[in-house]
Order: sequence, then C-alpha cells, then structure tokens
Amino acid sequence: EKINTPFDAMGEERLHQLVDAFYSRVGEHPDLAPIFPSDLTETARKQKQFLTQYLGGPSLYTEEHGHPMLRARHMHFPITMTRAKAWLTCMSEAMDEIGLEGPFREDFFARLGLTAQHMVNTPENDE
Ligand code: HEM
Repeated sequence: EKINTPFDAMGEERLHQLVDAFYSRVGEHPDLAPIFPSDLTETARKQKQFLTQYLGGPSLYTEEHGHPMLRARHMHFPITMTRAKAWLTCMSEAMDEIGLEGPFREDFFARLGLTAQHMVNTPENDE
C-alpha cells in the first residue's frame, strides 16, 4: 500500500503554482534578481523537480541531474544572509498567493528555512 508523502498532500499542480509564484517574485527582487538568470524558465523547471523529491515524491531532480549537492551547486553564487532572508520572503509570499496554510505550510517553510541557511556561503560585506 502506498504511503502518503507531503508531495501527495500538496499535489503536483499546486507545487508547480508555488514555484511559478516564487520565481516571479525572485525575478523582481532587488537582492536576488542580479544573481539569477534573466530567463527563469529552466531554473523553475529544476526547482519543480527538486521540490518534488524534497517532499517525498518521485526523484525527478536526481534522475536528470544527479545528486543535488545543493550547497556545492550554490557555491558559484554569493549567498549572504540577506539573500537567504529575501529567498524565504519570496517563498512565504508565494505560499500566501496560492493559499497554502496550516501545519503543512509551517513544516514545509521551517524545513526550507534550514536549507536556506545551509546555502549561505558569503559574509554580508564581502560579495
Ligand atoms: C539554483 C540562488 C536557496 C534550490 C539556484 C541558482 C541561484 C540560486 C542563483 C542558479 C539558477 C540558475 O542558474 O538557473 C539561491 C539563493 C538562495 C537559494 C540566493 C538563498 C538561500 C535555495 C534553497 C533551495 C534551492 C533553500 C532548495 C530548497 C535550488 C535548486 C537549483 C537552484 C534545485 C537548481 C540547481 C541546478 O542548477 O541544477 N539557486 N538559492 N535554492 N537552487 Fe537556489
């Protein structure tokens, strides 16, 4: 019998809506836009794959790109605490936009907060 995962609880369609709402904010954010590509289509596609597996769904990211090694993949980009906070603000607003609420949202957001902190690789005044 199939065990329900957070991915099942959220559903693919809402996860994709969340990622699209998130990257429209990232693309407009003064602290984030400068380090992202101007066309975020491919970034969003990879993030959909990644968050699918992060939430316990099929390993779409790993199947196409190999082990995520997220911190290593972020080393090319100067990620300060300010940028981590900005990333999380965009995510929180995207969650508001799609109406994600309750304990599911809180758990998901708390987990993203830990992952975001782990990506910080640059002191504030050193970028
Ligand atoms: C890729 C920034 C946090 C998952 C990227 C890219 C940038 C970036 C600039 C490259 C985009 C591209 O070239 O297409 C940041 C910043 C963060 C952050 C400033 C703030 C802490 C996170 C977190 C996650 C994440 C918390 C996961 C929950 C990814 C994934 C990719 C990515 C899956 C695609 C990697 C690939 O190229 O295969 N991020 N990121 N990032 N990020 Fe982040």
